[in-house]
Amino acid sequence: MSVTGKLDSPDEFDAFPHHQSTVLSERTLTTEEMEKLTSDRVLVSDFKQQKLETDAQKNWDLFYKRNTTNFFKDRHWTTREFDELKNCRESQGQKLVLLEAGCGVGNCIFPLLEEDLSIFIYACDFSPRAVEFVKQNALYCTERCLAFQCDLTKDDLQATIQVETVDVATLIFVLSAIHPEKMQKALEQIFKVLRPGGIVLFRDYGLYDHAMLRFKSGNKLGQNFYVRQDGTRSFFFSREYLAGLFQQAGFETLVNEYVLRETVNKKEGLCVPRVFLQSKFCKPVPSE
Ligand SMILES: C[S@@+](CC[C@H](N)C(=O)[O-])C[C@H]1O[C@@H](n2cnc3c(N)ncnc32)[C@H](O)[C@@H]1O
Repeated sequence: MSVTGKLDSPDEFDAFPHHQSTVLSERTLTTEEMEKLTSDRVLVSDFKQQKLETDAQKNWDLFYKRNTTNFFKDRHWTTREFDELKNCRESQGQKLVLLEAGCGVGNCIFPLLEEDLSIFIYACDFSPRAVEFVKQNALYCTERCLAFQCDLTKDDLQATIQVETVDVATLIFVLSAIHPEKMQKALEQIFKVLRPGGIVLFRDYGLYDHAMLRFKSGNKLGQNFYVRQDGTRSFFFSREYLAGLFQQAGFETLVNEYVLRETVNKKEGLCVPRVFLQSKFCKPVPSE
């Protein structure tokens, strides 16, 4: 297991045998866990918080400088968990247009490109290094993919993607890295490029995930929001909070549930509770 305060790869656990269940209510904390969370009251100073926000892009870019393409594993589970990636076309034979927002080095997109020939993927990230790694991948080809740099909280997605042309947008462990006050802006941008009837597929850290409980005091930025040793940040979503964000941006909720896993970490022989939030939201089709 990684040291407290380091990015806790969600993939680390995907490879191990696990019991998975989906639930609508929060994981029940033990008394010890509850005490740990409630006693952690001191927040990082405003000055440091502002610096983290200013340096957000730099810190992620340094993350990719250190880890190159070796940190996350390819996410081969996306088509299993989200059948919309195969079915969400307006007509049969139509090419699916996908936006992977916050694509990192492409661990989500390359399995999809390998699996489905009838797909075009826009992939953006604010880390220039990550985008460069995507472009250098042997599977990257400009007829089926366009990777570009974009800060979802600042830059205009429409500078690259035409309004209402995307069928499916994926947000996989990305929104948690964005400051809560700026999440809304990122969702509004995605809303604009999605076609009516288009959907967002979301998976990210859920409230009371093991990674949240492992932060030592001194790393708390706000409610359910923490900073890692390397300056990257992580928010832990409740269902209600996420649904509120998406609804405010104009989306309808289709699915919104916690995925609970008791996972065994082989190195330490520990069984730890992972909590992810897995959700689907739709851009409504205007009624005539
Ligand atoms: C945990 S990684 C996930 C990458 C990828 N979605 C995957 O599943 O492997 C989070 C990514 O979000 C990107 N990111 C964070 N804030 C962003 C922002 N404001 N705009 C664009 N990308 C951002 C980071 O650079 C990083 O690549």
